[in-house]
Amino acid sequence: MTTLDTGTAGTGSLIRTLPGSWYTSADIFAAEQEHVFEAMWFCAVRSADLPTPGAFRRVDVGRESVLVVRGRDGQLRAFLNVCRHRGAQICTEESGTVTRNLRCPYHAWTYGLDGKLVAAPNLSSLSDAQGAPLNRTEWGLTPVALREWAGYAWLCVSDDPPSFEEDVIGAVTERLGEAEAIDRYDIASLELGRRETYDVAANWKLIVENFMECYHCATIHPELTEVLPEFADGLAAQYFVGHGAEFGADVEGFTVDGSAGFDALPTLTEDQDRRYYAITVKPTVFVNLVPDHVILHRMFPVSADRTIVECDWLYTGDVVASGTDVSRSVELFHRVNLQDFDACERTQPAMSSRAYRDGGVLVPAEHHIGLFHDWLVARLQG
Ligand code: FES
Ligand code: FE
Repeated sequence: MTTLDTGTAGTGSLIRTLPGSWYTSADIFAAEQEHVFEAMWFCAVRSADLPTPGAFRRVDVGRESVLVVRGRDGQLRAFLNVCRHRGAQICTEESGTVTRNLRCPYHAWTYGLDGKLVAAPNLSSLSDAQGAPLNRTEWGLTPVALREWAGYAWLCVSDDPPSFEEDVIGAVTERLGEAEAIDRYDIASLELGRRETYDVAANWKLIVENFMECYHCATIHPELTEVLPEFADGLAAQYFVGHGAEFGADVEGFTVDGSAGFDALPTLTEDQDRRYYAITVKPTVFVNLVPDHVILHRMFPVSADRTIVECDWLYTGDVVASGTDVSRSVELFHRVNLQDFDACERTQPAMSSRAYRDGGVLVPAEHHIGLFHDWLVARLQG
């Protein structure tokens, strides 16, 4: 089995976490907004949440407000939510549907769903600073890079987005060990069975670190360790490339009581059946794969000590259309989420304690979290 290279992993040594201030400082959070959330691909919206032309959702990506909108041609597009006239926010609602256009509520400049400026009071008589007639595309909304993958719209607000293949698909492939493994779940074809939104009073990094390790599983996840007995040993499935945690011998499905779930997704291989795979796609996405559904977490960091987490449970169209009760299936990871976020919220206040000024330590089963810290420090150093 290949372990992730953590340098000191397996030596039995303790290694340092980040200092407490990294979880409380507004300056660090601002640096993360600039060098992480605004510089990387950010999983913003489930494509199916914007089903019809004119459907939009407003999402904060770092310090930018972004509008994701479905065009009349059916395409999703994203724009900075900033009027090109004098900068008012075009949309202040979280989501909705416009009939034809996006109209600025300040002086009524009006943009098509493709971002083009289509109308403005006295537009025909307007010329640009050089006296030329106003170019409606040039004076349209500022586009944001958008890529649809796994049924979600991923955004990058940077002028120069990194490779989606390397950053997002590469992270998934690195974890699962082969590129085709994720394709067999065909996540884009799945439908939403349940969504839960959690408002977590904790820094986003505490949530990432918690997701990456299973040292806490035996203590706080009784239902999960019943279904995945190897988690009681404390070694996270993410520690081994390609490894999925195996269901217990008498467990029938990934449900709160281990009872049967639904039919396995049709194109899974035998070695993907009866296993749970967890994937962290930095910076803000967790993907959980089980034979009959997929659970996808998206984090929306609000401030140094607050993170909104939207969690989707995705099933085949047949399961969703049949109206079958998915609650035993949902309840397992909903409890895991509540248990995890409770632990993160109990940790957050201590981040500003004198006792945590130099941080804490990672035991060998958590050493791979050190890679996350190294990655973050390197990013913030630019
Ligand atoms: Fe939008 Fe003036 S700021 S129309
Ligand atoms: Fe956990």
